[in-house]
Order: sequence, then structure tokens, then C-alpha cells
Amino acid sequence: MNGTNYSIAIDGPSGAGKSTLSRLAADIFGFIYVDTGALYRTIGLAAHMAGIDSKDEAGVTALLPELDIQLRYDDNGVQRMYLNGMDVSDKIRTQIISIYASDVSAMPPVREFLLDMQRNMAKTMNVIMDGRDIGTVVLPDADLKIFLTATPEDRAMRRFLELQGRGDTSSYEEVLRDIQYRDKNDSSRETAPLKPAPDAVIMDTTGNTLHESLDLICSVIREKLNL
Ligand code: DC
Repeated sequence: MNGTNYSIAIDGPSGAGKSTLSRLAADIFGFIYVDTGALYRTIGLAAHMAGIDSKDEAGVTALLPELDIQLRYDDNGVQRMYLNGMDVSDKIRTQIISIYASDVSAMPPVREFLLDMQRNMAKTMNVIMDGRDIGTVVLPDADLKIFLTATPEDRAMRRFLELQGRGDTSSYEEVLRDIQYRDKNDSSRETAPLKPAPDAVIMDTTGNTLHESLDLICSVIREKLNL
């Protein structure tokens, strides 16, 4: 426990079910759910809107001082992202912004820019924070660290169905390619690469139903935090 607050770090590759499971577990335990990927997506969107190439580190870095990024919760407790006062929560969920987010997240100035915002949230609230480097960099003293994973095909199918539900017409093959691109990018970057913290509980959700994975996560939380 960090002072008076509990923090739970849930890391893992794209499409492992982190956000759905974290949100549901946060509801069950009355914690605040923080989706940190949305922060990187918001910077990716800003770069895209400014016509900056996703790999142009100097261009993206020069843009940062102009960005006012706010993470807020609506009346239903759902996280919303604001970029310079505009609600961009839906705009950040497209395939092109997934690629932008992955590319800009490899840039050290971008990671530095977002670090305090993430740490400050965990100082004041009980949080379940999901991302790639929460257990390794953002909250190395988290009360519980979980690394969620599944095969790329399983993750691509989940992401494909989720995108379809939102009316996105991307094919399964495109989504699988995107997942493979991001896996490679997110794991091979020099700064805060995707990897399990040494003290993380590793959970492979391949083939699990949502309920099976949720039960597993909740039982680990109860046991570790004595809740
Ligand atoms: O979780 P997501 O797919 O919305 O994240 C989008 C991208 O942001 C992902 O490709 C990697 C990056 N990311 C990161 O580097 N560190 C985090 N804590 C969260 C996301």
C-alpha cells in the first residue's frame, strides 16, 4: 500500500483483455480504473492531426508543450480523454491512431511527459492502472502486479470483434498484422519496453471466457490485498 491507497498494475500486450478486465475488476472492488494507453493514443492523435509523421521524434517532441491532455471521468465513472479542451475519447480508438500511439510511445520525451500524471493519480486514489510499463516503471511499488497475455491470434480475434462492434470495417488479417506490429514495437523499444515485472503474476488468458479471466483476477486481488 502506498500511504493510504492501494494500487494494482495490469500490464500486457495489445488485446490481452487488460482494459475490459481492469474495468470490471475496478467496479467490483470500488477502485478507479486508469487506462494509460488512452494517454499515448491522445498524443498519437495530436501528432496525426498536426500532420506529423508517427516516427518523427523531433516533431512530436516539439508538439508536446502545446498539448493540454486531461483524463476525466463522466457521471457513469467512464474515463474520457480531452485534448486541448476537446473530447477525443472516440477519435483515439481507430486503427491508424493505434499505430501512432505505439510509435510515439517509444519516444522518451513522450513517456516523460506522461509519467507524473500517471503517478499522481495513484497517489490520491485506489487504482487499477493498465498499460505496458505500470509495474516496471510507473508504479514499481504497486501492491499487486499482473501481466496478462494470450496468443497473438486470440488477441487479434478479440480486438477484431471489439472493432466490429464499433462499426470498424478492418479485417481480421489487418487486426492481426496491427497486433504483431505493436507487439514488436512495444517490446523492442529501449525506453520502458513491454515486459513483466520480476514480481508480476503472469496470467495467460488464451481460450478463457471473460468470466474465467475475471474470476482469476479477482481471486488474485482478494488474496494479495486481503480484500
Ligand atoms: O493499451 P493501448 O492499446 O490503448 O495502448 C496504445 C499504445 O500505447 C500501445 O501500442 C503501447 C502504448 N502504451 C505504452 O507504451 N505504455 C503504456 N503504459 C500504455 C500504452
